[in-house]
Amino acid sequence: MGRLIVVSNRVNPPSDASVGTQGGLAMALSAALREENGIWFGWSGQTTEAFTGHLSIQKIGGVTVALTDLEAQDVQEYYNGYANRTLWPLFHYRTDLVAFERSFDEGYLRVNQRFADTLFPLVEKEDLLWVQDYHLLPLASMLRKHGVSNRIGFFLHIPWPAMRVFQTLPKHRELVETLFDYDLLGFQTEDSLNAFQEYVVHAADGERLPDGRLRAFGKTIRAGAFPIGIDSEDFTAAATSDKALAFYNLMRNSQAGRKMITGVDRLDYSKGLEERFLAYEQFLNNHPRMEGEVFLMQIATATREEVNTYQELRARLDSLSGRINGEHATIDWVPVRYVNRAYRRDELAGIYRASHVGLVTPLRDGMNLVAKEFVAGQDERDPGVLILSEFAGAAAQMQAALIVNPFDRQAMAEAIAEAVHMPLKERRQRHEDLMRGVMAEDVVWWRNDFVAKLKDEGEVTPDGD
Ligand code: G6P
Repeated sequence: MGRLIVVSNRVNPPSDASVGTQGGLAMALSAALREENGIWFGWSGQTTEAFTGHLSIQKIGGVTVALTDLEAQDVQEYYNGYANRTLWPLFHYRTDLVAFERSFDEGYLRVNQRFADTLFPLVEKEDLLWVQDYHLLPLASMLRKHGVSNRIGFFLHIPWPAMRVFQTLPKHRELVETLFDYDLLGFQTEDSLNAFQEYVVHAADGERLPDGRLRAFGKTIRAGAFPIGIDSEDFTAAATSDKALAFYNLMRNSQAGRKMITGVDRLDYSKGLEERFLAYEQFLNNHPRMEGEVFLMQIATATREEVNTYQELRARLDSLSGRINGEHATIDWVPVRYVNRAYRRDELAGIYRASHVGLVTPLRDGMNLVAKEFVAGQDERDPGVLILSEFAGAAAQMQAALIVNPFDRQAMAEAIAEAVHMPLKERRQRHEDLMRGVMAEDVVWWRNDFVAKLKDEGEVTPDGD
């Protein structure tokens, strides 16, 4: 039987899995590979003087990991450049923040080529390849040029934007053409799948065949929606661990009887942190009696710190949290606890469990696994309430949350009020509904579904099921 080879920019070995700085991709993959006869291939996170193509192969936490270093210029142009200054803002509908420079484009293609060149000698006949995320969109087309004819799947962890948004990208057509060298494309939601299909049909002279496959550029591929889940079993175990309990107790003591409204995000402009702070302030203004009764605990872990838009956001959030605290705080109450450090998964589980409300209000998000982990971390006897943005991919599966439009400050303020006052019976009912989905549609379900369809064992129906 062939192996599964997972390729991603960032490789976080399973032994690091409890550190909370990782995004969804790393957490999901470490879980997915734990029991596979797999190889995880990617960037080491290190830079070298000149690219050598040397692979460091090691076994970490039961997974074979193959890592390559990159040149500093590669990191600048490919990771900080095209991936995080061009594609990330674009795919999150922030065309105003997109920077497009030729050197980024060249660096992106160069690094993808380097990945292909170092990966292809490892590939054996029966292996399945599974490429992850926006850093590596053109990888399959480069592997094909090396003669790799294996099944290759691609999963996009972030949204696929609406056609007219995507068309603002210079050379958008060339990029999409490279995707037609995969056998199967996976998106987080039907919404992203539909946006991709619309592009193929209306902008790439392609067509959608009656069986749901997509045909363009002389090739036919399959595409579907595969909403990613969390490692529910592992997370619920983490939530009842000693560490989680210690954090739960720490939080409960420091709450001093006040209700805690919690947000946990990477410090990223897609997460709607400014809008969230302002909505929380609106809630305080609308309900002056709640002053001193609640507080917002916002953990915003610094990320991509070399990119200017992230530096600017950080400065704005420093100022906004400072202003809200300055205006509303009293000598014995601070309305916003704003924290930039990272927490381990089991610590976060304890924090979630001690929360009365979870605020997950991104302006755009591929899925958002914090929403799912928040639910999995709750005590079912006395669960906290999840407030979830309609623009998080997770909203499609988590309708029992309080769904909000993060651009509507008043509506968010009212949702906070509703959540803070929600009776136990309703909290339990909503939590039970949410928990059922989080447990059933977990990361194992996601991986099995994708891999089976990549192997062709399952049909991708016209609905993209
Ligand atoms: C998102 C992306 C991942 C990425 C993660 C963390 O979840 O989909 O691909 O790894 O953010 O971002 P970083 O730039 O630190 O890898």
